[in-house]
Amino acid sequence: MRVKKAIIPAAGLGTRFLPITKSMPKEMLPIVDTPNIQYIVEEAVKSGIEEILIITNQNKVAMENHFDINYELEMRLRESGKPELADYIHQIGNLIDIHYVRQKEPKGLGHAILCAEPFVSNEPFAVMLGDDLIVNEGKPALLQLLDLYDVKKNTILGVQKVPHSDVSKYGIVEPSHPVLDSADRFKIIGITEKPKISEAKSDYAVLGRYILTADIFDMLKQTKNGINGEIQLTDALKMMIEANRPVWGCHFTGNRYDIGDKFGFLKANIDFALKRSDLKESLIDYIKKLAKTL
Ligand code: G1P
Repeated sequence: MRVKKAIIPAAGLGTRFLPITKSMPKEMLPIVDTPNIQYIVEEAVKSGIEEILIITNQNKVAMENHFDINYELEMRLRESGKPELADYIHQIGNLIDIHYVRQKEPKGLGHAILCAEPFVSNEPFAVMLGDDLIVNEGKPALLQLLDLYDVKKNTILGVQKVPHSDVSKYGIVEPSHPVLDSADRFKIIGITEKPKISEAKSDYAVLGRYILTADIFDMLKQTKNGINGEIQLTDALKMMIEANRPVWGCHFTGNRYDIGDKFGFLKANIDFALKRSDLKESLIDYIKKLAKTL
């Protein structure tokens, strides 16, 4: 069965970005001038996904407005001689079918995904985490996972190596055998959420892209509160592995920014601005002058 649906959990409180997230969804923080969640939605579209469910909370209305049509704004842009900008703004509202459901309590990623069960019903589906912004000139990261799913027809986790000192920030997988850096896939025989550095089974972290099969919901329903007192997707995946259901790592290519972290967010903004013809030259001049003063 082809994967047609993706879930974007976006009900987090955004505490790492307070005070801006007091009234503004962290998914709307801009990378230059574009809300970061738009990049995630565009990656889904480029990967052939047909429908998205965003898991939200009561503080996320700005995000819904962003993916809607704003006729008044479009009309004013056209009246003031900016038809191209009006067209661009219009197509954001037509990118893809987006549905929304609220997670009423912040009980973690696993609980957020459970809120998607009626939307997904019995199909395999993708999960995309907004904190992981992945830039790829070639095949989008999600499409790389979907291609592997087409071969394996089982759970696929998007993984990349992280610095050993960072393993305790992530879900860390245990490969079935030593992994060559050039390997694009490997079987996973264990997974732990945010292990201690001394206990990590590898440096391969799950970085915000998953293809899950519908049996994950049974596992999530049995999952007890884990790290931070939350229902963790990683713990349900661990149950899948223990029940001998195959789980594969897709060692995807692409430059990944942790934009849930302030420094990662700044790096993404600088790198994206350096790729923009309207900003590149002045930014390079500024950085060069700044560097001399440091
Ligand atoms: C979540 C997942 C974790 C994963 C990470 C990727 O953690 O629980 O397994 O490695 O996203 O960004 P969080 O960043 O929400 O703490």
